[in-house]
Amino acid sequence: MQLPGDKSIAHRALILASLADGQSTIRNVPGSADVDSTRSALVALGAVISNPEDDVALVTGPSAWTPALNPIDCGNSGTTVRLLTGLLVGLGTPARLTGDRSLRNRPMDRVVYPLQSMGGRITYAEDRDRLPIELEARTTGSLRVLRYRGRVASAQVKSALLLAGLTAGIEVEVREPGVSRDHTERMLANLGAPIEFGPLDDGGARVLLVDPPTPVRLPGFELTIPGDVSSAAFLIAAGLLAGKSVHLDGVGLNETRTGFLKVLRRMGANVREQVLETRLGEPVGTIDVVAGRLGSFEIEAEEVPRLVDEIPVLAVLAARAHGRSRIWGAGELRNKESDRLAALAVNLGLLGVECEERRDGLIIEGSERSLSGTVRTGGDHRIAMAFGVLGSASGCEIEVDDKDCVKVSFPGFWTILDEITS
Ligand code: S3P
Repeated sequence: MQLPGDKSIAHRALILASLADGQSTIRNVPGSADVDSTRSALVALGAVISNPEDDVALVTGPSAWTPALNPIDCGNSGTTVRLLTGLLVGLGTPARLTGDRSLRNRPMDRVVYPLQSMGGRITYAEDRDRLPIELEARTTGSLRVLRYRGRVASAQVKSALLLAGLTAGIEVEVREPGVSRDHTERMLANLGAPIEFGPLDDGGARVLLVDPPTPVRLPGFELTIPGDVSSAAFLIAAGLLAGKSVHLDGVGLNETRTGFLKVLRRMGANVREQVLETRLGEPVGTIDVVAGRLGSFEIEAEEVPRLVDEIPVLAVLAARAHGRSRIWGAGELRNKESDRLAALAVNLGLLGVECEERRDGLIIEGSERSLSGTVRTGGDHRIAMAFGVLGSASGCEIEVDDKDCVKVSFPGFWTILDEITS
C-alpha cells in the first residue's frame, strides 16, 4: 500500500528547507491539511514553495523573512503553530498566530514560557495559555542561552526551542522526562548542524545545540519523505481486525515512533520491521504484520511518548482483544486535537464497550459482542480513523459523524480502509 508521507517529517522538512541555502526538493509531501498549514505559513513569510497541488515541493527560503500581512492561521495543526512560534522568535520576525477552534483550545504556555525565558517577546492576545499569540519584532542579540527541563516529553516544544536557537545563533539545551520523536534532531545533524542528542539513563532524553552559527548555515537538500507510520497504524489495525496480513513498503521506522508495534507484539500479533535505507537520518523500510488472535495489553507512562498518537487505535483494538487492557500515564492525550481520553471513553461506552476513564488513562474490556452507534469525533482525525477501523470489524455497525476530518492527516483514508476490508 502507498502511504502518505510522514506528517511530522514533512513539517520539519519544509521549515528547514526554507532556512537552507538554495533550493531543496522534497518528495512524497502529504496532501494533508496540517502540512498545508505549514506550507502556506512559510509562503506568507516569504518562502517560495512550488506546486501546492503536487506531492513534490521545490522550496527556496526567503532572502529576508518578512512579517506576514495577515494573522497566520495554523488551522488544526499544533506542530505548525508550536514550531513556527520558535522559528519566528529566533528570527525576530513579528507575527500574530492563531488556529481553528480545536487549536485555540490547546495549551501554548509549554512553548511560550521557555521562549520567554530565552528573551522572546510573546503575548497572549485574548486568554492566557491560548491562541492567538502576538510575537514582537526583536533586534539581533537580544536572546540568551537556554537550558530547559520540560515537564512533559514533547517533540513540538523541543523542536520549537531548537528552531529558536538555530535561527538566533544561540545555544539551547533541552531535557525531557521521556523520549519524544527526534526528527528535528536527526535532520539537523544530517544537514551538518552542531547538535548532540540521545536518551538518558533516567528514561528521559537530552538535546544540545552547541553554538550554532549566525546566520543559519544549512545546505539545500533532497528528501523523499518516508511513509507515515502513524497512518500505517490504522491500516495495520484494520488488517488485524479483518484477519488479513499487511505488508507496507517505504515506511518511516524511527524508534521514537514505532512503540505501537511493540504493543501489537505483546498482544500476540506477528510483526516484522526491516530497515532498508536511511533518509536524512531517518530509517525507512518495510512492516509485515500477520494476523492472529489478539490478547490484551498494558501501556505504562514511560512508553507513551513513542506511541502518543497511536493510543486511539490501540484503544479500539483493545475493545476487540481478549481480556482487559490498561493504559497509564497518558494524560497528555487530553491536550491533543480533542481530549482523546474522554473522546475514547465516551464513544467506546456508547457503542457498548466496557471502558473506564481514569485521570491519565483508560481501562478497556475486550469483547466479541456486536457494537453499534454513531461516534462523535469532535473534529479529531485520529478519533474518526480509530472508530472507522473498529467499524470495519465484523459485528460492528458504526457511523462516524464527521468523516471529512481525516483530511487533517490522511485524506485517502476511507478509500484505503474500504480496500483493506472489502
Ligand atoms: C508531533 C509531536 C507530538 C504528536 C503530534 C506531532 C510533532 O505532539 O502528538 O501529532 O510533529 O512534533 P507533542 O510533541 O506535543 O507530544
